Amino acid sequence: MSEIEKKVEGLSLADIPAGAVFVDGDKGKDEAGRGGKDAPYETAGFAVYSSGEATPIVIVKDGQMDLISASALKKAKKNADGIAKKVEKAAKAAEQQAAKDAEEAKKVEASKNIVIKEDPSLPKATKIKLRNVAAHKNTRVKVQGWIHRLRSQKGLVFIVLRDGTGYLQCVLSGDLANAYSTSQLTMESTIALSGQLSPVPEGKSAPGGVELAADYYEIIGLAPAGDESITNKVQEGADPSILLDQRHLALRGETLSAVMKVRASLLRAIRQVYDEEGLTEVTPPCMVQTQVEGGSTLFGLKYYGEEAFLTQSSQLYLETCCPALGDVYCIQESFRAERSHTRRHLSEYTHIEAELAFLTFDDMLDHIEKVLVETVKKVLEDPIAGPLVEQLNPGFQAPERPFLRMDYISALDWLNEHGIPNEEGEKFKFGDDIAEAAERKMTDTIGRPIFLTRFPLEIKSFYMKKCADDERVTESVDVLMPNVGEITGGSMRIDDLDELLAGFKREGIDPSAYYWFSDQRKYGTYPHGGYGLGTERILAWLCDRFTVRDCSLYPRFTGRCKP
Ligand code: 4AD
Repeated sequence: MSEIEKKVEGLSLADIPAGAVFVDGDKGKDEAGRGGKDAPYETAGFAVYSSGEATPIVIVKDGQMDLISASALKKAKKNADGIAKKVEKAAKAAEQQAAKDAEEAKKVEASKNIVIKEDPSLPKATKIKLRNVAAHKNTRVKVQGWIHRLRSQKGLVFIVLRDGTGYLQCVLSGDLANAYSTSQLTMESTIALSGQLSPVPEGKSAPGGVELAADYYEIIGLAPAGDESITNKVQEGADPSILLDQRHLALRGETLSAVMKVRASLLRAIRQVYDEEGLTEVTPPCMVQTQVEGGSTLFGLKYYGEEAFLTQSSQLYLETCCPALGDVYCIQESFRAERSHTRRHLSEYTHIEAELAFLTFDDMLDHIEKVLVETVKKVLEDPIAGPLVEQLNPGFQAPERPFLRMDYISALDWLNEHGIPNEEGEKFKFGDDIAEAAERKMTDTIGRPIFLTRFPLEIKSFYMKKCADDERVTESVDVLMPNVGEITGGSMRIDDLDELLAGFKREGIDPSAYYWFSDQRKYGTYPHGGYGLGTERILAWLCDRFTVRDCSLYPRFTGRCKP
């Protein structure tokens, strides 16, 4: 016996009219097929809607049964009307949707019958790269690349094509827009399109001011849609480590690819400047058995059973080249097992280094200034890189000569006067390292390039020459740029053999592995100096990137050596 039958108080079982339906506001459910004693409805409105006005309704509450009151029945009838209207509306909508789906299916079927064919009567299309569109206006061309952006609007399909050399808007219309294969296109699919290149209509904009009215296309490779689509793989603003895992795809984005183009331009420009300045390019080894910038950041490797390292700097090798080739430079990877996990440190970076013979410290500073100013000028004048720098770093001001020259001791005064403390949180004193945070504050406050010179012997490398007028400090320089800090480090080199050997001793370095380097002081010593520029740091400054990681193709830093 059910709970209801046990607790009859209001209405006895015998009084229940034949064919009655039951409504229980607490335990019931409004679903078709209910209404019995053991499966009551929830609302009287639904009971009327389902069973009709004539069916008697029994209301169950707290185990008591009563016939529905006249007023409740009136309300229930009204509600039943509302339900009926809703159901009718839903049925209509479903019917309309079904008609729409059928129409769509018909369209898809029709689209499958469209055959995309090249019209042989059209002039032959000239195959071009997108960087050359301006030279082919009003001609029929064939372009190939990746679908960078895709949208359809009013029967037209707009594709922004990317081929690495540029972007081009291509418009598909008529059969091309309606073909089934067009509906299958996805971002990053590869495609070859032919058509007329024309200036974009008045009032519309597109990259380069031209667009392609496509008359034919061929799909080369479809990229995935759905979960695997490019927009799911590399979402803007995603966690940096996810974007780094997907670096191979993230590189296709407009920002990273722009930085890489500026990078190429910078390397080209600096090579040109070095050429104009009479320096010869050399390629020193990366696998070495000597250190340059301190043992703590050396990456070791086993070299046929011997101990070897990845180079920290090619400086020592460059020094050996001057007597053979004159002033030299190299653009080579340097490796640092860095303890500093900052936004300006990489484990592998592209090091631009130069070494110059028979010059004074001041000559070298002038040279560095010239190289930096001329290189940046060339990048800004480059028709590809110049506009990209403006896009990445709007309002960038090219540095002008002379740079502010400030020696280490004056920098300490400046920092103390401005209340910027040393790493212990105290006032700077002679011998303190000016760490990244303090250096950044000073550079950003001064707001222009600075030559910071004459660092103390004990905080610099073993090979640096002492200043003639103050033996506590060296003929050394760091070039500091706003927003980045140090981008270049250099010095005059010790040219006296005994002094160099004393330097090795001071640093606890065994001089025997360095015989080829020390020999430069034996076989015709000469005053010389040089410097190293961090490519990614110059780029971070030039392109206004937060971190040098954004300026390296596949950045390597603590914990990351992939992809
Ligand atoms: O100041 P550094 O250590 O100087 C040298 O290696 C000298 N032997 C160069 C020379 O005189 N030929 O490094 C030079 C520059 C720095 O100013 C910085 O721009 C860059 O190399 N650099 C780094 N860039 C990215 N990640 C790192 N871990 C870097 N370490 C240095």
